[in-house]
Amino acid sequence: MWTRDGIRQLVWDRLGDHLLLVVSNREPYVHSRVSGAIQCDMPPSGLTTALDPIMRACGGTWIAHGSGNADRETVDESDRVQVPPDDPSYTLRRVWLTKEEEDGYYYGFSNDALWPLCHIAYTRPTFKEAEWNTYRAVNERFAQVVLEEVGDSKAFVFVQDYHLTLLPRLLREANPNLIIAQFWHIPWPNPEAFRVCPWQEDILKGLLGNHLLGFHLRYHCNNFLDTLDRTIEARVDRDRYEATHGGEKTAIRPFPISVDFEDVSRRARGAEVEAEMARLTKSLELKDRFVGMGLDRIDYTKGIPDRLRAVERFLERYPDYRNRVVFIQTGVPSRVHVPAYRRINDEIDSLIDKINWKYESDRWKPIIDLRGPLSPLTVMALRRLADFAVVSSLHDGMNLVAKEFVASAFDEDKVLLLSQFTGAARELSDAVMVNPYATDHFAAAMKEALEMPLAERQRRMRRMRAVVEENNVYKWAADIVTEMVKLEFGG
Ligand code: G6P
Repeated sequence: MWTRDGIRQLVWDRLGDHLLLVVSNREPYVHSRVSGAIQCDMPPSGLTTALDPIMRACGGTWIAHGSGNADRETVDESDRVQVPPDDPSYTLRRVWLTKEEEDGYYYGFSNDALWPLCHIAYTRPTFKEAEWNTYRAVNERFAQVVLEEVGDSKAFVFVQDYHLTLLPRLLREANPNLIIAQFWHIPWPNPEAFRVCPWQEDILKGLLGNHLLGFHLRYHCNNFLDTLDRTIEARVDRDRYEATHGGEKTAIRPFPISVDFEDVSRRARGAEVEAEMARLTKSLELKDRFVGMGLDRIDYTKGIPDRLRAVERFLERYPDYRNRVVFIQTGVPSRVHVPAYRRINDEIDSLIDKINWKYESDRWKPIIDLRGPLSPLTVMALRRLADFAVVSSLHDGMNLVAKEFVASAFDEDKVLLLSQFTGAARELSDAVMVNPYATDHFAAAMKEALEMPLAERQRRMRRMRAVVEENNVYKWAADIVTEMVKLEFGG
């Protein structure tokens, strides 16, 4: 079983004389001013949830966009701050972007073009040349900062996600001594979907600057190799999962990402969680009711309207459950300057309003809307209060919300309803699988969750917990480091 100490030891033994640098758009700690005081929060991001425990264990430097309105006040003269604030274990180096850069690179090309391009959720990508140019310029800025941090040292640079597709090539050209790997946290679509991107060649060449490129699933690796095959002059070796371009090799491998099982499981047992559960039970009037829960970043790929429609159908088809079940929808607003994200928020508002109006009684509302930032304690208490959780993504690389729910369920008495279109569905095969597009079947799955005998609930949850415990985030990182070392040093 991989642990925090195990990964630390592995990194020290194998990468001893190399600096460890993680590079991502999203930073793991955001400082903001709230009513005059500075507060530090962790953002709702699967990427930061997964990488933070690794960096805490191994130390090193994490380079990311400084997005908080008090971020500048909290760094030193080199734009660095030690994090986490209560237990400084690694360095966060912030990169500053102007509003225009953030618009073009983050809201524009990353989230209005690449995100919908890679997720098959029927939201059309928007390609604008000006945004692409800004995206390129911001990738160059990140490259400058990485090179500055590396100086003359040897370094292992671990790049994250779709915001930084051009960075690996820029780094490899500037400093051939770097070891560069990248992890792609979202799906890679099939070549028919990807080919509509006007800059597909630049993106693929950028990514082939990596020595190692990781995806969650072998299926995504295959899609990537197919895309390469049809798009650029690269030699694709499907037996070895390798691509060679301009004499340089990139290994393509699956590494299913995960969570720190032990830490989540331990926090779930905290005495303060019990107190928060009691408070919520009272304030939300949950006593003697079944509780269903959805916990998401508000995103059109998460299938939130589809899940609400399934709740509506459930109440319509199984009227005995009216007054007896509540569904809590939490969620943090995300990427609100992108029109599709504003639309999804409005759609959720009007669906919740419609369903509650249709079914509510004097003492009961079927859907409790808790959208907005919630403390980690409240989130944990909600997980524990839930009889079942719903993850209904239309398409999702992995989905760590599902794994965190499983890791929190130490009493084993909970059911997970999981979309078959998430990467997590491959490992969590004991969840009740749902197709979020099939509303009747989804509603019947909610009934199945509520009526599942205790022994069956426990059997399934025990098996899922064993999977997440073994395939924890330290194993994910250890597999990547081990592969990297094998490729680079033949060791
Ligand atoms: C997904 C992406 C991450 C991103 C997260 C939150 O998980 O793969 O890169 O950090 O969503 O989105 P945000 O745009 O707020 O960083």
